[in-house]
Amino acid sequence: MRQAHTREQLWAVLRSWRRAGLSTALVPTMGNLHEGHLALVAAAREQADRVITSIYVNPAQFGEGEDFDRYPRTLETDQRQLEEAACDLLFTPTDQTMYPGGLGDSTRVKAAPSLANILEGANRPGHFDGVVTVVARLFNLVTPDVAVFGEKDYQQLLVIRRLVLDLGYAVRIAAVATVRGPAGLALSSRNRYLDDEQKTAAHQLNVVLQEAASQVADAPTHLPEVERAAQAKLEQAGLRVDYVAVRRARDLAKPSADDPDLRVLAAVWSGATRLIDNRACRPY
Ligand code: PAJ
Repeated sequence: MRQAHTREQLWAVLRSWRRAGLSTALVPTMGNLHEGHLALVAAAREQADRVITSIYVNPAQFGEGEDFDRYPRTLETDQRQLEEAACDLLFTPTDQTMYPGGLGDSTRVKAAPSLANILEGANRPGHFDGVVTVVARLFNLVTPDVAVFGEKDYQQLLVIRRLVLDLGYAVRIAAVATVRGPAGLALSSRNRYLDDEQKTAAHQLNVVLQEAASQVADAPTHLPEVERAAQAKLEQAGLRVDYVAVRRARDLAKPSADDPDLRVLAAVWSGATRLIDNRACRPY
């Protein structure tokens, strides 16, 4: 596996691949890799001749008081996992490479407000602007044919699809289903913050979302009741709820009676750790 930190190192590798007529797939990550990230790398392998994984803990998407400083940074283990997953190039840009003028004075991208200011965005103001800014920069530096994202961060996936549509990137976005642990908890770098008791509570997130998804299938006209029941069950499990909502899958708008593809999404706190998850549901 090759490794690049700067634009010049990255471009040297990309130039040689392009000359050889090879297509590329990019997997953007913040590191501390787990099986969820590796499923993205495996999907990328199937989509292109060469796979590039980026690891960059992006300061622009963390809010005041969030976990930027303590976000797990485990580069050596990450490198080993990527070697095993047959990743071709690891791009670990420095802050200088990503924000050459300094973060405070950088050119920014602003995510589409209808998508970026609800649910996650309402609870984490500016978060998706930080995400699209760094993803746009990665797309510009790497110019991949395909970029792979996880459904685990469902709203992020939609925000990035809009970024590609609105700014006209010639990149195809591929989505990978959420990878879960044995008890159904969605794998996340933040799970490592949980102690045993908090983990037990966290397991209810997936259970409650699955129940909500099947209730939507049984009683599609009672969505507010489904949301209220899910919220109560999450609270009973000892989780603090930021939101739990049934939305239209394609744009996260409030569903109308005849929308066939819905998504139930939630964000909760188990102790001091914030967790998100979502499930697809069909109202008939
Ligand atoms: P990160 O949280 O490291 O996630 C990187 C990618 O892995 C995202 O596309 C995310 O949806 C996917 N992912 C995480 N856990 C997953 C799971 N259990 N199953 C499937 N996919 C999973 O998301 C980010 O980083 C950042 O916001 C980023 C896009 C890199 C921009 O900084």
